[in-house]
Amino acid sequence: MKILVTGGAGYIGSFMVKRLIENGDEPIVLDSLEVGHREVVPQEVKLYEGNLLDKEFVKKIFSENKFDAVIHFAAYALAGESMEKPEKYFENNIQGGLNLLDAMKGKTSHFVFSSTCSIYGTPKKIPVSEDESKKPESVYGQSKLMFEKVLFWYDKIYNIKHINLRYFNAAGAALDGSMGENHEAETHIIPNAIIAILENKPFTLFGKDYPTPDGTCIRDYIHVLDLAEAHLQALSYLKDKNTSDSFNLGAGKGYSNLGVLEMVKKVSEKDLQIAYKDRRFGDPPQIFADNTKAKNILGFNPINSDLKTIIESAWKWHSKI
Ligand SMILES: NC(=O)c1ccc[n+]([C@@H]2O[C@H](COP(=O)([O-])OP(=O)(O)OC[C@H]3O[C@@H](n4cnc5c(N)ncnc54)[C@H](O)[C@@H]3O)[C@@H](O)[C@H]2O)c1
Repeated sequence: MKILVTGGAGYIGSFMVKRLIENGDEPIVLDSLEVGHREVVPQEVKLYEGNLLDKEFVKKIFSENKFDAVIHFAAYALAGESMEKPEKYFENNIQGGLNLLDAMKGKTSHFVFSSTCSIYGTPKKIPVSEDESKKPESVYGQSKLMFEKVLFWYDKIYNIKHINLRYFNAAGAALDGSMGENHEAETHIIPNAIIAILENKPFTLFGKDYPTPDGTCIRDYIHVLDLAEAHLQALSYLKDKNTSDSFNLGAGKGYSNLGVLEMVKKVSEKDLQIAYKDRRFGDPPQIFADNTKAKNILGFNPINSDLKTIIESAWKWHSKI
């Protein structure tokens, strides 16, 4: 299949492009390279370098290609920053997506969307199922929820069928360490803990007084390879059933921040200094996925998502770059 991958030069998108090639598909990348990197897009893959906010640019891509489906990763994804610059997030994550949907009308009718567990805010029930109430606590989460609503209407009105994949925390690298997460503004705990060790700096941990067994937040980590596989499954589902749906993609298990840091120390065989700071606004004490629906319907199987494999692969990658 010929697939447009927006954000295909970013972290998760680059793994998706690789997996599509392995699967015999033809990925084409649209990326502004604002956050992503040209060198992660394989030579043989066509890269349209430009911005989703440029309507004419997006239309031109659809006039030059006939896509079977679109996988939409391109977005701003820093929850903290979204609370300082809400307009930046609403514009990019909603208007950018709208330009894409408008260019798709009457041409491509299958769409896979990178949504997030942030749409749930602080969940009432753990593990979190897709039916949980949606009360985002950041502009980032709100922008993703708003775009899910846009997709609902574009299905009803223009018959564009979509799958919302609500990722928990994407993590890990290629198992041989050849590809991985490379964000200039890194906010995720695993890469930051590894970088702290490699640069011999303290790691900043926000909050140690949460109502959890060790006082630190509990999160669900999903290996980027398992995420990429789930997108292939979502594409097959759209092809077979031609119906829209939403799925949680998490390992279904929670690890405390201190548990993650312990595993980073174990894998690296190095010590890590921790600098504690106060809680951050909008960090729920505990969230992990009920992934039953994705398992039963898509055949989702997070085989690489145990914490040790995630951290071993990330350690290999960060020790190399
Ligand atoms: N990383 C996670 O843990 C996580 C969790 C939940 C959801 N998500 C979602 O998954 C998607 C991918 O996440 P990631 O971690 O790979 O992010 P990333 O920042 O590494 O990749 C996003 C890519 O999109 C590009 N981009 C952004 N806005 C663009 C625009 N207007 N036009 C063209 N290109 C644009 C960036 O240059 C970048 O290459 C995002 O939509 C994010 O919200 C990520």
